[in-house]
Amino acid sequence: MLVGDGHLSEFRAVDWRDGKVILLDQTRLPHEESYLEINDWREVAEAIRSMRVRGAPAIGIAAAYAMALAAADSRDVFAAADELAGTRPTAVNLFWAIERMKRAASEAEPGQLAQRLLQEANAIAAEQDAADHTIGELGAELLPDDCRVLTHCNAGGLATYSFGTALGVIKAAHRQGKQLFVWVDETRPLLQGARLTAWELEREGVPMALITDNMAGHLISTGQVDAVITGADRIAANGDTANKIGTYGLAVLANRHRIPFYIAAPLSTVDLSIPDGRSIPIEEREPDEVKSLGGKQITGDKVAARNFAFDVTPAELISAIISEKGIIRQPLEAGMRKLAMEDDGR
Ligand code: MRU
Repeated sequence: MLVGDGHLSEFRAVDWRDGKVILLDQTRLPHEESYLEINDWREVAEAIRSMRVRGAPAIGIAAAYAMALAAADSRDVFAAADELAGTRPTAVNLFWAIERMKRAASEAEPGQLAQRLLQEANAIAAEQDAADHTIGELGAELLPDDCRVLTHCNAGGLATYSFGTALGVIKAAHRQGKQLFVWVDETRPLLQGARLTAWELEREGVPMALITDNMAGHLISTGQVDAVITGADRIAANGDTANKIGTYGLAVLANRHRIPFYIAAPLSTVDLSIPDGRSIPIEEREPDEVKSLGGKQITGDKVAARNFAFDVTPAELISAIISEKGIIRQPLEAGMRKLAMEDDGR
């Protein structure tokens, strides 16, 4: 259900109000800022599948609130957890948040389940918000004044909670008064860059230009990009990183032309149980998303298409990972293990 027009200041991709999950419907942006008000956990699962809410941390938070809804509705929260875990395979934040909620459910006092799960979901959201701002502050130090940055997909507040990781770094540097210019990859097939990143940067007043994905090579090879920064969906123990399809190509370009390639991500995106990127499950979505643009079919009906949603960038191509516990530099594996071990619950 739509609950009216949004506001122009800060937004929240996911929220909880009056016993309901509130989602800013990202399939309608940038034309319409409308919020879904949901009181059934299955509808949250569907919203994750259909990418009304998307981005690794945001789908984790949405799933956590969905489990709080299931508990409030006296439903089996473990059955809800199983179904939520089947919505999207690549972003580990989803599974991380679900496991954390299952632990909270197992430890809840009798009669306190709903309250305990809401408290845990609120904590996950608040921790993500704090992590975003810390990542922003730490990462901003890596961007010099007069920097031209290229970003891919949307790793902004829409993908996390309110501020963002890769876009959080850009926003923080901009708020510090640095002169930044952002090249925004449109990010086919679902145009997260054109629809969402451009929307966020416009609200923030950051100078930018939208480009099609196939323009990046030209810009990087002609010295018009000083750094590339993206988010992540899952980082394996050795630092190999899955992110939106097209990220790997940007990392290769950055390496070839000797500009830094940064990943900004919270530690909840790190999956130490997976040794390297070969074991990261890559989501393949409906071919129709490739055969159409902005909801309009652009091919003949019978044209075959494949739709890989993510790719893996090998650790060796990543200059640094910006996390909320510090900047992890090469060799990534040792630095990540140290920080993840220091982090709670690992
Ligand atoms: O398919 P999406 O739009 O959910 O993919 C999102 C990304 O690839 C983001 O870069 C990633 O989740 C990091 S979000 C902070």
